[in-house]
Amino acid sequence: MTDLPELLKKVAEELKPLPETVDRTRDVATRLMGRLETFFGAGKVSVEGSFAKGTMLRGKEEADIFVHFEKTFPVDDACRLVVDKGVEVIRDEGGSFRLRYANHPYVEGFVDGIRVNIVPCYDAEYGKWITPVDRTPYHTRYVKTHLSPDMADEVRLLKAFLINDNLYGAEVKVKGFSGYVCELLIIRFRSFASLVMEASRWKPPVVLDEEAGITGAPLVLRDPVDPQRNTAAAVSLSALSNFIMKSKLFLKNPSTKFFLEKSSLKGLVNGRSFLGLVFELPQQPPDVLWGELSRTVGGLWRGLEQHGFKVLRGDRWADSHRGVIVFELESNILPPVMLNRGPPVWAKTAVDFVEEQFTKEGLLAYPWVSGDRLYSLLRRKHTEASETIQMLIKTGKAAISKNLKQYIINAKIYSDPLQLTADLSGEEANFFMEFVRTCPNYIAHYASSI
Ligand code: UTP
Ligand code: MN
Repeated sequence: MTDLPELLKKVAEELKPLPETVDRTRDVATRLMGRLETFFGAGKVSVEGSFAKGTMLRGKEEADIFVHFEKTFPVDDACRLVVDKGVEVIRDEGGSFRLRYANHPYVEGFVDGIRVNIVPCYDAEYGKWITPVDRTPYHTRYVKTHLSPDMADEVRLLKAFLINDNLYGAEVKVKGFSGYVCELLIIRFRSFASLVMEASRWKPPVVLDEEAGITGAPLVLRDPVDPQRNTAAAVSLSALSNFIMKSKLFLKNPSTKFFLEKSSLKGLVNGRSFLGLVFELPQQPPDVLWGELSRTVGGLWRGLEQHGFKVLRGDRWADSHRGVIVFELESNILPPVMLNRGPPVWAKTAVDFVEEQFTKEGLLAYPWVSGDRLYSLLRRKHTEASETIQMLIKTGKAAISKNLKQYIINAKIYSDPLQLTADLSGEEANFFMEFVRTCPNYIAHYASSI
């Protein structure tokens, strides 16, 4: 039996940023802040996020720099100013940048190998937030006053535990645990070990703050700086359930793999049926894009089922220019004969049904009565999943997000998983590999230890 405290200590050591990288991050932040303050004024720029809170992970060092505006300043102007000036100061410091969009536009840069985010926010009165990030300085202060340096190690353990199974981050793509949620969970449960012990016994919905009166979310965790708000509102039932299951398996057989390693377990393809779409994507804010992709998966899923295919699972993946949608079906091919269930004999439409059948092109067997109902047999028009999905897309019969429609129409369609694998590379190949494998990383690790 592995000694849990010993193991966690070892992992925590590996997760702590190296002192020289912390210094470099501080140096980059100071340089950028100096330049920004020259323009926006002294005291108008602050460092927030995990760097300020001391909860940054090794290899993920970043400085979140916030520019503060008076509440009367128009939001559009604030964003434009921060984007313009942000780009300028990053360039002046010899860095590269790209424009990003979360709640509002911001600039992401890389200076001396350190990621920086330059974000506008408002010095809003407590509770009278103008944009969602206006709470951030309050969050930073709360965490700084409630989290000891030892507890910061526990936060890093939790973040790495979640990251390794793609459960970290509140964005639509992940619907998981944000950095702030991790910090609040450690503040509440004191250590990573006691949190996972609790979590291994959780049953959703998990309401950690009954008195907040918040219901309807799988996980309820009151925001201490805004008691009406559920900080864990983004956590999906699947993300929470994976955390619960991972906690159980980790406690049963603790190993550093649960934090730091990807399993190499491959899925089995034999006897299974897949359907994949690969397409170009328009430039869009990530949360909008992931929302649209998810809706499109739902629309195609329903369309396939309406045409007789049994869809077992579906998922999506995207980067800035390409998207992938995949389904697993019970079968890619349906039999040519389809039972056509008509109305009961006593219904008004019963006679019409009988007449209609004799005019149908695909009629295979004349109408008959069984029980109180009419039936006939028809030839199925679309027996192949790839052909059916093509038809669904082209005829607009499946609910596809409007913005994506023209891109999905030109999608390349695959029903051979080996062909699809051959045409994918990098992260998208990895996504499909994990889809085929079905089991999350932590279950694969656990399986290798039993
Ligand atoms: P981060 O996502 O960088 O979180 O957002 P973090 O706490 O620094 O953790 P790391 O970087 O993953 O280690 C920084 C802060 O900005 C606010 C949050 O309050 C967060 O604490 N934020 C960020 C938002 O409110 N909305 C966003 O979309 C992004
Ligand atoms: Mn951050």
